[in-house]
Amino acid sequence: MHTSTSSRARRALAPVLTGLLAVAGLTAASGTAEAASTLAGAAAEKGRYFGTAVAANHLGEAPYVSTLNTEFDSVTPENEMKWDALEPSRGAFNFAAADRIVSHAQSRGMKVRGHTLVWHSQLPSWVAGLGATDLRSAMNNHINQVMGHWKGKIHSWDVVNEAFQDGSSGARRSSPFQDKLGNGFIEEAFRAARAADPAAKLCYNDYNTDGINAKSNAVYNMVRDFKARGVPIDCVGFQSHFNSASPVPADYQANLQRFADLGVEVQITELDIEGSGTSQATSYANVVKACLAVTRCTGITVWGITDKYSWRASGTPLLFDSNYNKKPAYTAVLNALGGTSGGDPGNPGGATCTATYSKQEEWSDRFNGRVTITAGSAAITGWTTTVTLTSPQKITATWNGSPTWDSSGNVMTMRPNGNGSLAAGASTSFGFTVMKNGNSAAPAIGGCTAS
Ligand code: XIL
Repeated sequence: MHTSTSSRARRALAPVLTGLLAVAGLTAASGTAEAASTLAGAAAEKGRYFGTAVAANHLGEAPYVSTLNTEFDSVTPENEMKWDALEPSRGAFNFAAADRIVSHAQSRGMKVRGHTLVWHSQLPSWVAGLGATDLRSAMNNHINQVMGHWKGKIHSWDVVNEAFQDGSSGARRSSPFQDKLGNGFIEEAFRAARAADPAAKLCYNDYNTDGINAKSNAVYNMVRDFKARGVPIDCVGFQSHFNSASPVPADYQANLQRFADLGVEVQITELDIEGSGTSQATSYANVVKACLAVTRCTGITVWGITDKYSWRASGTPLLFDSNYNKKPAYTAVLNALGGTSGGDPGNPGGATCTATYSKQEEWSDRFNGRVTITAGSAAITGWTTTVTLTSPQKITATWNGSPTWDSSGNVMTMRPNGNGSLAAGASTSFGFTVMKNGNSAAPAIGGCTAS
């Protein structure tokens, strides 16, 4: 079985254990050390963070939060730190939604990436209406207020996002900042940002800059110029949104390396790869390997936890499916990071399973649900999943499983009742009756954990 020890607690214990062994004159036999079994744990053993974009309005969903807390050690608010969310009218700041994410992260010991201060998109219309003098002071004020609010709490800020055009020109993109303040706006923003929170790493972030091309050349030249002239910049973010029309470039690693050689960190900031199965898994592994091969590649953030809430949901681009099952891409990332679910003594083969829900009979007051458990490419001897109800629904009967309940009575953890052993690819199912009590919402099914 998986233990409940968090990966962070385990990481903290590892050096202590190694120290004790050393004092006792023992050495840990190689191969017996526990390989990390979470993304964050495995990344941390390689000196990297592994983060995800988070939306504040999902923080009440049990499997969303448990997946976040188990697998990730850095969060990026997906929309809550954008200008339209934080300063919808001039000088009136609303930090509440982003604060919820920051406090959740802090209470769990996760780091926070700030995204983003100066961007042409999700920009309130009042900004575009300002003349140059006003715009300059509004930009500086926005940077000061926002960075000041979370001073010391953000590991890296995307100071400027997407300031270059696509295509072969290498030119700047038209935006209120570019059009009214000219080329110097990026430098001005970075100088203001350094003064506002000297502890935060300051990043330039963009997309379609993942390989060596005209757009990434333009960003490269800007970063080289900034370093030469002492303009404060610490990192470059590579969004890394990939699909069949824009696959992981063959020169991805070489591109990260040439930026790193300028003396900046590189971070993979919004990774998602449309697709499924082995080809998606292989692409994800290639991205992870590229980052690990570049010493200054300090972390990877995926752009969401579950396919169901992805901004590109129809492309199923993330590591967990809509039911929070681990996809082949998850396993590929974990393995590329050097971790393995096979490090779990109760799960020697690294077995996996998936859990999918389907509604059965429905009556006016109640409905029956069925969850199908399917073993992955290895046989399993046990499985665990969760069924989360919407209060005031109640489960009044279950079959083909052994349920336990959390204190709220809304989350049922289901384990086998004689149907734990499944051959590779084989399925079993359990069922239950939900009393609606006025709410006919489908239950949320958590991920499937195999043993
Ligand atoms: C996206 C969010 O994921 C969506 O929810 C929102 O509707 C639009 O923005 N580049 C970025 C991110 O820097 O902020 C964008 O996020 C995706 C592209």
